[in-house]
Amino acid sequence: MENDLSVVILAAGLGTRMKSRKAKVLHHAGGLSLVEHVVNSALALTSPDRVVVVVGHQAEQVQETLSGRGVRFALQTEQKGTGDALSVCRAEAPEREGLLIVLYGDCPLLSVDTLNTLLSHHRNSGAAATVITTLLDDPSGYGRAIVDDAGYVEAIVEHKVATTEQRAVRQINSGIYCFDAALLWKHLAEIEPNPVSKEYYLTDIVEILNRAGHKVSALLHANSNELMGINTRIELAIVDRILRERKVRQLMLDGVTIEKPETVIVDLGVEAGMDSLVEPFVQLLGNTTIGESCRIGAGSIIRDSQLGDGVEIAPYTLIQSSTIDAGATIGPFARLRPGNHVKAAAHIGNFVELKKTTLGAGSKAGHLTYLGDSVIGAGVNVGAGTITCNYDGIHKHQTTIGDGVFVGSNATLVAPVELGSGSYIAAGSVVTETVPEDSLAVGRGRQVNKDGWAKRRREQQQR
Ligand code: UD1
Ligand code: CA
Repeated sequence: MENDLSVVILAAGLGTRMKSRKAKVLHHAGGLSLVEHVVNSALALTSPDRVVVVVGHQAEQVQETLSGRGVRFALQTEQKGTGDALSVCRAEAPEREGLLIVLYGDCPLLSVDTLNTLLSHHRNSGAAATVITTLLDDPSGYGRAIVDDAGYVEAIVEHKVATTEQRAVRQINSGIYCFDAALLWKHLAEIEPNPVSKEYYLTDIVEILNRAGHKVSALLHANSNELMGINTRIELAIVDRILRERKVRQLMLDGVTIEKPETVIVDLGVEAGMDSLVEPFVQLLGNTTIGESCRIGAGSIIRDSQLGDGVEIAPYTLIQSSTIDAGATIGPFARLRPGNHVKAAAHIGNFVELKKTTLGAGSKAGHLTYLGDSVIGAGVNVGAGTITCNYDGIHKHQTTIGDGVFVGSNATLVAPVELGSGSYIAAGSVVTETVPEDSLAVGRGRQVNKDGWAKRRREQQQR
């Protein structure tokens, strides 16, 4: 960690080219908002109180997204350009001395290694500022770095205002800079609004520093992908793909088998243990952790859930905010809405829906069942078609099922209701009252057989 380094992240813009009601830096790539990626890189370099995020558009939401990280915020009330954005954090930027790195909130692929290279390059060059640049085949949209023979930057010219000759320059400004903080603050106010766009371009600082007799160094970075700034949803999709490819590769290197990895979507916050196997078209999202030797069936989507070792998820299963203990088997075509705890070696089969339900160890709900707001003990068999009636139209109620209960098929459990342990529920029962332990509950119309009735009816119809 550097102790004379501050980082400012510019994240106040709306991002007009996104054509969105949502601020650009709140759009997600790899399961995190763009600004979170950038803040994560900054926090690898310096302490949170030395990181300032400039917010403006949807400032509250951006601050909310970053809450708990301990970074500072500065408010840019009107978006008058990147030069203006930096100037509003003058009071918040903790250091007048030392170094100040400026990052743009729309550049999420930037690695900590590259930032460390920037720092050491800057310290060695003795320049007033260092700009990370790269060569692009298609530089349109980016500011062009006008570099002299010695490799120093004379100016950065924005695409919008560049001449045809300048537009032919392929070396672009990445928008990642390291400044001598004292010199930056001394000269920043000299930036004037651009005559064409009326915006204060931070990039004008390069010419200003040159005029004052200082040098601006260029760090030419080979991996231009990493410096990609997101302006449109097309770039968002490209960055999302790159982040997820990296993630999937890392999981494979860590011992997870991923079949057809190009079809699998994994958020950056996901962890998976050795020898787990992920089938095609799976999505592992949010803060999901998967134990060792699990199998995640094709087309399943798992969000914010914890799976123990040896869990088998059959294809096309949806799981959200749930805990699944070791050896449980779930699916195909099961749906776990938030708040479930499926204990060890329990089984949930096809077309079973769970919500806020604990299913005890070794218990089974194999087919066509809804279990909501229920606590189910160990070794319970829930027959096909069983429904907990947890909602009376106004309130939700709890169903409690003791250990070793056998619930016959198509039982209707009208909550609040309790089935004592070891009890047996006859198929097709509507259960509205407590069932005592070890007893049989039959709650259905008794069957009546009428001898010869069907035959007589047929004969009548033939006449
Ligand atoms: C900017 C650079 C350009 C560079 C490119 C790299 C300038 C003038 N241009 O252009 O040289 O090649 O990035 O990706 O800096 N922002 C604010 N307040 C504002 C305006 C912008 O906070 O008033 C923030 C935005 O939220 C964004 C970042 O600054 O995160 C960059 O702004 P953007 O409009 O995307 O700049 P570019 O046109 O891409
Ligand atoms: Ca940009």
